[in-house]
Amino acid sequence: MQVVHTVAALRAALAGADRTACVPTMGNLHAGHVSLVELAKRHGAPVVASIFVNPLQFGAGEDFERYPRTLDADCARLAAAGCDLVFAPEVTEMYPVPQTYTIAVPAALANDLCGAFRPGHFDGVATVVLKLFNLIQPRIAVFGKKDFQQLHVIRELVRQFNLPVGILAGDTLRETDGLAMSSRNGYLSPAERIQATQLHRALADVQSAIERGERDFDTLAATAARHLKMAGWRVDYVAVRDAETLAAAQPGGTRLVVLGAATLGTTRLIDNVEISLPT
Ligand code: PAF
Repeated sequence: MQVVHTVAALRAALAGADRTACVPTMGNLHAGHVSLVELAKRHGAPVVASIFVNPLQFGAGEDFERYPRTLDADCARLAAAGCDLVFAPEVTEMYPVPQTYTIAVPAALANDLCGAFRPGHFDGVATVVLKLFNLIQPRIAVFGKKDFQQLHVIRELVRQFNLPVGILAGDTLRETDGLAMSSRNGYLSPAERIQATQLHRALADVQSAIERGERDFDTLAATAARHLKMAGWRVDYVAVRDAETLAAAQPGGTRLVVLGAATLGTTRLIDNVEISLPT
């Protein structure tokens, strides 16, 4: 596995190669990322993983500085997973001049759900993903479903700019107690780590109620949020949405998603569960 840090070295490594499958990451990789690499590998293309903590998608007071940089361990994991090439640029390599041209995700999406609490976040994600696609020119790109709204933003980016990239979605991997794997789980204290599974349980309770036939989505979401608050979480949102469009769920909808974001101590976690109902 080759590791490159510059655009020139990336281009040289890609010259003459088949079009790749890429797995964009911010590093600090866990088994969930490895499963995305494995999914990419199943599509038969050389796999390129990028490792870049993108300052554009972090707001003031967020965790850009403390986000764990673990390049050596990440490369070992990627090599073991069969990744062919790693692109790990410095900020000055990705943004050699101020990035004054950016993608503006429409407000209805950019300011919804996580975007309401992270202004500019999805513009930053869409901008760096477009740059990564331009640099790597992959045939396929793989993203995790844990970042469900991000996946939606990227699918729309690809659709509306006619980008020749197939987007694949990898399932969320969970710890044995249900906690969704996330690089940010490492911020949790031992006590918070035990408590953290409450987020998934709250969303799963909403899922069960819907599967039993309940359709008052707002009340279900509000109840889940109240339970989390009573347990000591600061809740950004719990919401039931259409899984295809992220619009408000309709009582007759058959593909839904329950999404939640909440903070325990200083650690903000997100999670979601999809629901497929009989038509
Ligand atoms: O999901 C992530 O790790 C990041 O948001 C991404 C897609 C690599 C863009 O920086």
